[in-house]
Amino acid sequence: MSVKQFAGKKPFPEEGPLPAHIGVIMDGNGRWAVRRGQIRTQGHLEGLNTAKRIVKAASDMGIAYLTLYVFSTENWKRTAEEVGFIMGLVRQYLAAELDFFRQHRIRIRHSGDARGLPPDIAEEIREVCGDTRDFTGLQVILALNYGGRDEIIRGIKRFLEARPSGGELTEASFRQYLDNPDVPDPDLIIRTAGEMRISNFLLWEGAYTEYWGSEKLWPDFTAEDLASAIAWFQSRERRYGGVKG
Ligand code: FPP
Repeated sequence: MSVKQFAGKKPFPEEGPLPAHIGVIMDGNGRWAVRRGQIRTQGHLEGLNTAKRIVKAASDMGIAYLTLYVFSTENWKRTAEEVGFIMGLVRQYLAAELDFFRQHRIRIRHSGDARGLPPDIAEEIREVCGDTRDFTGLQVILALNYGGRDEIIRGIKRFLEARPSGGELTEASFRQYLDNPDVPDPDLIIRTAGEMRISNFLLWEGAYTEYWGSEKLWPDFTAEDLASAIAWFQSRERRYGGVKG
């Protein structure tokens, strides 16, 4: 299915490249559930279904990279029940979707500190990343136990450990110490639930990213909304701090 078909009433400009890398801050699961008189975890369950739909849509549209902010380094502050529930969803997602990943040639990757994850989840991620590593379709990067500041600190530590001979720490040389150095910086970051905050997401990589906010809560977010965000992105003129050429 083409992006235009997704765009519905908001047609895409005839020209304009697709964003290669889209990041998503999937916010509003808790509010979605509370507004329905349900417990917060029900919102996460519905949020997982939305994530599956958006992965499928991004794959169909020909997006190259999609980073989903699943669990931040700050999310451990939530109740043990909620944390356990989200981890359970991750487990379920990785185990149940392998055939889907194979069918659509989707490569799964991880960003964040795997050492801080429950060992079985860290192992499951390692396996799925390994099983899908040669797939050349959409790359889905699960930001899990991820924090932008934490990624930068871990990167600096890795640089110091490696101490490359004559290696000066520069913006370009530092890049290879990020979690996924080969993944291009996000062109577009989408945040749902009406908030406009970075929330420690892709701090280094997002220096020149276009931000798009949706009032919709994440469980209500659709493939058409994704297409609208892309259409908006395509109408933007990116100058990277320079002037119009
Ligand atoms: C933010 O909403 C959402 C999260 C912290 C969890 C996101 C997890 C999922 C969508 C499920 C797992 C997905 C995959 C791909 C494995 P919130 O709870 O902060 O919402 P609120 O601000 O309304 O309380």
